[in-house]
Amino acid sequence: MEKRKDWYKDLVVYQIYPRSFMDSDGDGIGDLRGIISKLDYIASLGVNAIWLTPIYPSPCYDNGYDISDYRSIDPMYGTFDDFIAFRDGCHERGIAVIMDLVVNHTSSHHEWFRESRKSRNGKYSDYYIWHDPVDGKEPNNWAGSFGGSAWEYVPERDQYYLHLFSKEQPDLNWECEDVRNEVISIIRYWGDMGVDGFRVDAISYLEKAPGFPDSPEPPFSTGFSIAMDINSNREGTHRYIRELNEKAFASYHMMTVGEVNCRMLSDYHDYASQSRHEFDMCIPFVPPIVEINTWSPFKMKKTIMETYSELKEDGWWACFLSNHDKPRQVSLYGDDRIYRSRSAKLLAALIQMLPGTPFVYQGEEIGMANVYYGSIDEYNDPSTVDFYGELIATGHSPAEALREAQRVSRDNARSPMQWNADKNAGFSDGTPWLGVNPDYKEWNAEKEEEDADSVLSFYKAVIALRRGSNAIRRGGLEFIAEDDERLFIFERALDDEAYAFVANFSDKPALLSIDLSDYGSVVLSTTEHKSIDSDMVLEPYEAFIVKRK
Ligand code: NOJ
Repeated sequence: MEKRKDWYKDLVVYQIYPRSFMDSDGDGIGDLRGIISKLDYIASLGVNAIWLTPIYPSPCYDNGYDISDYRSIDPMYGTFDDFIAFRDGCHERGIAVIMDLVVNHTSSHHEWFRESRKSRNGKYSDYYIWHDPVDGKEPNNWAGSFGGSAWEYVPERDQYYLHLFSKEQPDLNWECEDVRNEVISIIRYWGDMGVDGFRVDAISYLEKAPGFPDSPEPPFSTGFSIAMDINSNREGTHRYIRELNEKAFASYHMMTVGEVNCRMLSDYHDYASQSRHEFDMCIPFVPPIVEINTWSPFKMKKTIMETYSELKEDGWWACFLSNHDKPRQVSLYGDDRIYRSRSAKLLAALIQMLPGTPFVYQGEEIGMANVYYGSIDEYNDPSTVDFYGELIATGHSPAEALREAQRVSRDNARSPMQWNADKNAGFSDGTPWLGVNPDYKEWNAEKEEEDADSVLSFYKAVIALRRGSNAIRRGGLEFIAEDDERLFIFERALDDEAYAFVANFSDKPALLSIDLSDYGSVVLSTTEHKSIDSDMVLEPYEAFIVKRK
C-alpha cells in the first residue's frame, strides 16, 4: 500500500471480530476464508482499512486476547496461506490490513510462560512479573480485571505472578530488555508480511507501580481492588512505546492506535501527539459499566469538544461508539425499538462527520442491536459471567443479575453477523459458538442491500461523503448551540468547503431555532426532510447534513 505522510488520517476503519463474522467451514466459528468471501461486501461500504481482532493461536480464555504464538494463525481461523490471501484480497481493493498486538500479557500457554514458571533461573525466568509471598499470601490487594486476585501462586517457584486480566493472561515484564526485543521482532515480522498497522491492546499498563503498593480503590466482595488506574500511564510505559515506535512501527510507516486507560485528557495527549513519537491515535478504554450508567448526549458533546481542543494542534484520535467490548451502539446510545433505523443512522452520521479516524464495528452498519440472552449459561464472555457472580454474591436476585448482565455484556457485540434470513443468519451451517440474535430475519445485510432507505445504504452514503470531502476528513470542528441538551450541531470547514451536522439526539421532538440560512439543501438525512428552515421541529433522532452555500 502506498503510504503518504499522515495516511492514517484518511482511513475509515472496519473492525472485524473474526469469530463472529463469517464461518466458511461449518464449525460454528468465523474464519479467514469467511472474511475473504465477504471482502467485496466490505469494500462496498467504502472503508479503506480492516482491523482484525486477534487471529493468532490462543487457548481463547479471552477470545484471542491471550496469545500463545505471535507468529502464526490459529488453525480455527485458517492457515498462513489463508492469511496471505486475505492480505492480498485487501490490498487489491485498496484496503489496509490492521492487526491486533497484545503484548501487555501473553497466554499462560505461551512457551515463554511455560518455561518461566518452572524455575527462578532460566532464559525466560524474568519474562513475567514474579513476586515472593507476603506473610504467606498475595503480595498486595490488586484484583485482576476479570475478578479475583491479580496474583496467582506457582509452587515450582514458590512465587506469585501478576495478571491484570485473567490468570490465563500473565503480564509481561517490560523492564526485561529481552522481552522488549521479542516484541520489536514480532512487529517487524508482521511488517515484513505486509501488515499496514496495529491496534495495540491494553498498552497503558506496561510499567507497574513501583513497590507494588495496595490499590486505593474500594474492594470487591472478594476483598481485592481493581488495579488498573494505579498501573496506568506511567513514564516507563511511554518510554517503552517510544522504543517500539523507533525500532519497529516507524520503519514500516505503520498506522498505530493504542488502547489506553486515560482519566485525563492530558493523558491522551501524551500518547497521541505527533511530537512525542508514540502512537498515531488512541482508543480510550472507559469501562462500559461506568459509561453505560452515566452517559448522556450532552456529556458526549462536551467530551468531544474537550478532546478536540486538547489534540487539535498536533494530535489525532480514533472516533468510534462501539467495538467488541461494548454493548451495541444503537441499543446504548440510540433506541433499538421505536427509532432503531433512524437512531442508527444518526450515530453513523455523527461518527463519520467528526474529525479523527472513524471506526465502524461489524454489524453496526446494518443496525445490529443487543442480543439479551435468556440465561447466564448462554453468555461466553468471562467478564459478564464474573459480573453476574459478583451481583449474586452481593445479594441481587438471579433475575436482577441477568438483567444487568444483559445490559452491559460484551457478548452483545459478539453475536454472529447477520448476513441474510437463512438458518443462523447465513453466518454458519453448523452451530454458532454464540447464539444468533433472533431479530436477524428483519435485520440483515442482504435485505438492507436491496433497500435504498436502509441503515446499510445510509452508511455507504455517509462514508462516501466523508471520503470525498477534505473539509470532513481534515477540516476544523466548530460546535453551534453547544449548551443545548438535545441538539447536536457542528460545522466542519476547510478553505471554502463546509458542512454542518444537525441532529436532535433525543426521543422527543425538538425545535431547531438556529439560523442555518448559510446552508443549502440537505445532502443526507435520517428522515424524509429534504430541506431545512430555522423554525422547523426536528423529529426524534432526526439528523441531517447540509452543505454551506
Ligand atoms: C482489551 C480488549 O479489547 C479486550 O477484549 C480484552 O479482554 C482486554 N483488552 C485484555 O486483553
